[in-house]
Amino acid sequence: MASLYTILLALHNINRWLVLLTGVWAVVQNISVMGGGRPFTPSERRPVATFMGTLHLQVVLGLLLYALMGMQHMTVFPGVRPSFGMEHLGMGFLAAIFATVGSIQSRKAATEQAKGRAAVIWCGLALLVVLAAIPWFRRLLPF
Ligand code: HEM
Repeated sequence: MASLYTILLALHNINRWLVLLTGVWAVVQNISVMGGGRPFTPSERRPVATFMGTLHLQVVLGLLLYALMGMQHMTVFPGVRPSFGMEHLGMGFLAAIFATVGSIQSRKAATEQAKGRAAVIWCGLALLVVLAAIPWFRRLLPF
């Protein structure tokens, strides 16, 4: 039977792809809003909120993994520089904060264009941090 660690790691692995897909979707969908070509409708809001949600889920799964690995005295990211675990955790939090700011600002901004700009800039920043946080040296899929 698969251990809880294996299950959590597999979910964290797969959700990484949802984070990346929804992040690209959020930026692409809002570029023309930023340029003044379209209003900020629920179709533009949806990918921003989904991106934020997938990132929040990723943080929760990651923290559960850290807690479980700590309890079982397992080394996090064995074989790489010891600071990588903290860098991964810090960047994960930062990306989630950026996406949350993007979601709030794109809802509260005064004009349609400002909503689009907030979505593109904050989700774009979150996406860049996610790309830097991902341990690309690990397996791409859990199966
Ligand atoms: C605060 C946020 C995060 C925490 C606490 C966290 C924690 C962890 C932990 C403990 C591991 C397992 C390391 C091991 O097995 O040695 C891991 C692996 C991983 N993390 Fe995160 N993580 C976070 C955010 C993210 C984000 C934002 C992404 C990408 C969207 C991500 C992608 C991955 C991937 C791809 C792996 C390797 C999965 C595998 O080998 O199957 N993590 N993370």
